[in-house]
Amino acid sequence: MARVLILFAHPALHRSRVNVSLMDAVQGMEGVTFRDLYEEYPNLHIDFETEQELLLEHDVIVWQHPFYWYSAPAILKEWQDVVLKYGFAYGEGGTKLAGKKVMSALTTGGPEEAYQREGYNRYTMKELLAPFDQTARLCGMEYLEPFVIHGVRQLTDEQIQAWAQRYKQCILELRNL
Ligand SMILES: Cc1cc2nc3c(=O)[nH]c(=O)nc-3n(C[C@H](O)[C@H](O)[C@H](O)COP(=O)(O)O)c2cc1C
Repeated sequence: MARVLILFAHPALHRSRVNVSLMDAVQGMEGVTFRDLYEEYPNLHIDFETEQELLLEHDVIVWQHPFYWYSAPAILKEWQDVVLKYGFAYGEGGTKLAGKKVMSALTTGGPEEAYQREGYNRYTMKELLAPFDQTARLCGMEYLEPFVIHGVRQLTDEQIQAWAQRYKQCILELRNL
């Protein structure tokens, strides 16, 4: 059974409809560690040693967050900047993450059709997620197909609950990889 670490980044959880439901669905699952980065580090002062330890203890990493300005909320970038160090994650001797898997779990305000060449966002999700994909690659990790929920503002409560169950299923599958 793979050990899954969900690194969650949402700066305004009290206003969340979707991520909060996804979070509830995966809380307490055996073999799954859910880590709310803004709760851990409200001042963005990330303890890189603790975070590196957690990475070593898990096989699959999930970056869960709402899509903000075609990327992640700031704390996830900060996490990447301070945790994925030379000699640990990449570069000479930097093989500690090699062989692990990473998946992005995202919610977007924009509908799926907006994330096409002809759509108003002009780029596909695959293209926009290239920095995450390549970050994983440079660290010797496999970047899995992302779990994406588009057009979240239009979703009914029932649809959100259905997505939350799909997310739980996805995390179960990661755990059984
Ligand atoms: C600062 C900010 C930036 C955003 N940028 C994008 C974006 O680039 N693309 C997009 O589709 N939605 C964008 N959105 C919409 C969020 O992705 C959407 O509100 C979020 O996924 C809803 O999830 P929640 O209910 O968990 O908060 C943005 C929202 C905020 C507040």
